[in-house]
Amino acid sequence: MEWIKVFSSIEEAHLRLTENAPQLIVVHGVSICLVKRENNLFAVENKCTHNGESLSKGSVNFLGEVVCPWHGYRFNLKTGRESNERARDLITYPIKQNEEGVFVGL
Ligand code: FES
Repeated sequence: MEWIKVFSSIEEAHLRLTENAPQLIVVHGVSICLVKRENNLFAVENKCTHNGESLSKGSVNFLGEVVCPWHGYRFNLKTGRESNERARDLITYPIKQNEEGVFVGL
């Protein structure tokens, strides 16, 4: 696995991201939907597995699921699992932080 730095510090991540507001980042050509929620960061595949909409245009509900803006499919941010098993799970990407920054694992 390759770790790619996406923020120089956790403080920068918290400044740049809005709670429960999905954000698109492109890391080495891979589109990732990044979410800050309850002091955690989650990174999942950006492309909805139902019909390809960008999940970063969606929202996050009270269950911690990213909700696709197109047809409302819901995906668990930790596991990538679609709530009703109507589409395949999203790829999830690990995140780590240390004194050198915040990294996404590809
Ligand atoms: S494209 Fe996402 S729910 Fe249909």
